[in-house]
Amino acid sequence: MSTTATTETKPAAPAIEKIKVKVDGRELEVPRLTADWSGKPVPTTMIQACELAKVEVPHYCYHPKLPVAGNCRMCLVEFGTPALGPDRKPILNPDGTPKVMKSPRPAIACATPISPGMEIYTNTPGVKQMREGVLEFLLINHPLDCPICDQAGECKLQEYSVDYGQSASRFVEPKVHKPKAVDLGPRIVLDDERCILCTRCIRFTKDIAGDDALGIVNRGSYNTLTAYPGKVFDNNYTLNTVDICPVGALTSKDFRFQMRVWFLKETKSICTSCATGCNIIVGSREEKVYRYTPRENNAVNACWMCDYGRLNYKWIGREDRLKEVLVRDVGQASSLSPSKEKSETVKMPVLRKTTWTAALSEIAEKLKNAPHGSVAIIASARQTNEELWLLKKLADKSGAMTDSVGRFGEGDKLLLNADRNPNKTGARLIGICQASVGIKLRPIFEFIRAGKIKTLIVFGEDVTKNGIDAELLGKLDTLIVSDILPNATTKQAHYLLPGCAHVEKRGTFTNTKGRVQKFMKAVEAPGDARPEWEFLHDLVYHVTGQDGFLTIEGLFNEMAKDVSAFNGLTWASLGDTGATVPI
Ligand code: SF4
Ligand code: SF4
Ligand code: FES
Repeated sequence: MSTTATTETKPAAPAIEKIKVKVDGRELEVPRLTADWSGKPVPTTMIQACELAKVEVPHYCYHPKLPVAGNCRMCLVEFGTPALGPDRKPILNPDGTPKVMKSPRPAIACATPISPGMEIYTNTPGVKQMREGVLEFLLINHPLDCPICDQAGECKLQEYSVDYGQSASRFVEPKVHKPKAVDLGPRIVLDDERCILCTRCIRFTKDIAGDDALGIVNRGSYNTLTAYPGKVFDNNYTLNTVDICPVGALTSKDFRFQMRVWFLKETKSICTSCATGCNIIVGSREEKVYRYTPRENNAVNACWMCDYGRLNYKWIGREDRLKEVLVRDVGQASSLSPSKEKSETVKMPVLRKTTWTAALSEIAEKLKNAPHGSVAIIASARQTNEELWLLKKLADKSGAMTDSVGRFGEGDKLLLNADRNPNKTGARLIGICQASVGIKLRPIFEFIRAGKIKTLIVFGEDVTKNGIDAELLGKLDTLIVSDILPNATTKQAHYLLPGCAHVEKRGTFTNTKGRVQKFMKAVEAPGDARPEWEFLHDLVYHVTGQDGFLTIEGLFNEMAKDVSAFNGLTWASLGDTGATVPI
């Protein structure tokens, strides 16, 4: 078995220097250096050592992917270091162990580096009292909004108040009231009263998104988060601030008041809106998608995703989704053709409902009897690796030309790729398209015009937008189309096979850097729509006799053996964050 694929992108690192520390009495070895938010090596901090020891240190302003600010004080801990004598040598206990001197002052764990022999105490009465004090202070001006706050269920102020706070407040003075429901930008609403001034949103926007748009104005209790005067908060990454805001101060206009988060089913998935393939969580309830949020994958998107990809899900629930398997009986007048007159000249009959079994066996029969070279396949780079591989099997059997359709927009330096297809790399590695995607479309259209290609299979693309008009499609003997939404090509189909959105099936995509990543099913497909890999498997079996991969796991493993770039991969080895293959 080849081992060309790897689960890590980085080459083997040099030996890591470790130092011994104790967390709540338990000794462990911790790397002396870790990567900071920008990937630069910096001394490991107490909070990171505690995380390695699996000891929770509550925190608000600290975020592993942002510069450290150290302003909330929620992470205060007590600590001690080995005592040194006047000769700068360690003072020893009677049993020969180094004597540890407890510091008279606490330290913020997020910004304090560890040192050899350090002891960190996170559960002393002093630490408990400090946490209660910080929470009491943060809640002084915080409104009692929880029952109507969209953050309820994922609010760190609620959670830490329960875990580390006091049940009663001693504050009897009137609270400071700050602006509520501030329209910060096209996608964000700010409730300043809820803001605990952790500055996570400011640091993300400035240091990660490169947009110095947010800041804090006024002093003391009147500190207020705001956008730069006269400007709106509008870049392609604004909704990440909603994810990292530990309280309900920043909310998404798209998601707020739509669904309580504890009702959402969370499914691991991939964004399909560009070739980066950001890892996401799909939040759904009762077969409806409510939101996408980023899922951490340091090989792809760290903890972030762009607003464009995040909000590109509404089409999944569209009313006009294709839900029926349809076939066109030659010889009847069409109600779907562009015009009655034209329908008569191209003999366009009506579409009628049929079953998957009947449609697939008819298509299989036609493909088996099609003369070699009379079939062409236009696949979509929005399809999964498995689906493209099955289409390649059909193409190989019938000597079909294949290609895919390019889809481009503007990219940026952070995540958004100019290639808006999620799987052009997979389509190329599998052999469906060339590096310059779409190069064979014109020859395919010319062969249709010349009457050489008589059967066209189109998956997930409206080819009328790519240089083939309805009249040319009318010259085909058989047009087999699978899609999710209606378009000018589906209207011309002889066989119309309703497919699934990626959230309705399982599979893998290969991103622009060769990361093969799997995604899971979140919701059921509407009507008779079926995952394309399922019915393509049936079709390949009928046409080629090749069988043995009835599950997505089996299918992926079979494909990985067959496609050299994927050799060595298995469905299981992909894990949650994928594996990188040479491209
Ligand atoms: S809005 Fe949220 S993330 Fe921004 S400073 Fe306030 S609490 Fe922190
Ligand atoms: S960068 Fe691309 S993959 Fe990531 S969220 Fe945006 S559109 Fe989706
Ligand atoms: S998390 Fe350490 S000071 Fe805020």
